[in-house]
Amino acid sequence: METKYYKIGSGDDCAAFAEAGEIICRGGLVAFPTETVYGLGGNALCAESARRIYEAKGRPGDNPLIVHVADPVDAGDFAGVNGVYGELSRLFMPGPLTVILPKKDIVPDETTGGLPTVAVRCPSNPAARALIEAAGVPIAAPSANLSGRPSPTSAAHVAADLDGRIDMILDGGECEIGLESTVIAVTPDGVNVLRPGAVTPEMLRQAGFEVSVAEAVTRPDRAGDHPASPGMKYKHYAPRAPLTLVDGDRDDLLFAASRAKTKGGRVAVMCSTDDLPFFADFIVLDTGRSDGEYAHRFFSLLRKADNLKAEAIFAGLPSTDGISLALYNRIIRSAGGNVISVRRDKEK
Ligand code: TXA
Ligand code: MG
Repeated sequence: METKYYKIGSGDDCAAFAEAGEIICRGGLVAFPTETVYGLGGNALCAESARRIYEAKGRPGDNPLIVHVADPVDAGDFAGVNGVYGELSRLFMPGPLTVILPKKDIVPDETTGGLPTVAVRCPSNPAARALIEAAGVPIAAPSANLSGRPSPTSAAHVAADLDGRIDMILDGGECEIGLESTVIAVTPDGVNVLRPGAVTPEMLRQAGFEVSVAEAVTRPDRAGDHPASPGMKYKHYAPRAPLTLVDGDRDDLLFAASRAKTKGGRVAVMCSTDDLPFFADFIVLDTGRSDGEYAHRFFSLLRKADNLKAEAIFAGLPSTDGISLALYNRIIRSAGGNVISVRRDKEK
């Protein structure tokens, strides 16, 4: 199929949203920007739309989709909302937070991967909300990448993966945050973070919630795992070149990358702007000056490494506080759990 392409803000937005909304209503797929990453949207209340989303992404059908609403109160139409949801939505929506709620029968099993629960999110990106309003139905949307590839943070990333496989791409520029939303489940005494994002455990605690973080967040997947958030069990966000994480300081990172380079091949290194001079012999992937900037660039840097034909990528391990926890979670998955320490080797 031919994929239509519209740039948001080019003057014909009204017509573009109307056409995109119509595509969603008749069961088609539209990729659209959100503040986190680009989503691949379809009608959340239509089983056939969900099947098409899985097919376009090449994604396993048991990985549930997030349902996007233009207003948090709209969740009541298809999910069992409660007081905690009300409080969470008042504080953090619209924004990068997804809440798991009991689903109503109107939501097809295809949308939730057969689960009795449904994930609800109200994005803050105005284009995302305009699209949901134009469609007049809640929009199911996973990240708009081929399954297993890094999530897309620009329309060009979406096109690279899905051109010819979906009906339309709405180009709203680069995503502000760059990592997917925080996914939480409501527990009897608080909330459980299943996937970390820009709404951090610290922010949720500050708001008065009792917060636990799922164990799977900080460890790579193991075969046979059954995490509470099924999306966490697949190999994820992977660049083509193997990514190796070095548990240590800048010097350890340089040692590991240099050792790989002496064996031959194109070696890329993720390093902060200030450390660029130390890695001049490598393909450098500039992560910026803070973990916020790193988060914003991370998926784009993985794609850049691919485009530059890197054969091996090295990076340090982020910390696990604030937004860094989300980065840590994505990077260990991108690396397939490949973390090394070179301290002993250096002494040889
Ligand atoms: O920022 C985001 O959340 C983006 C944008 C497009 O909104 N969407 C996104 O969707 O990241 P996706 O499909 O790539 O990730 C959805 C995550 C998966 O880890 C999935 O397992 C989890 O949410 N999830 C969805 N429904 C769930 C449910 N009912 N119970 C537990 N986890 C659920
Ligand atoms: Mg995804």
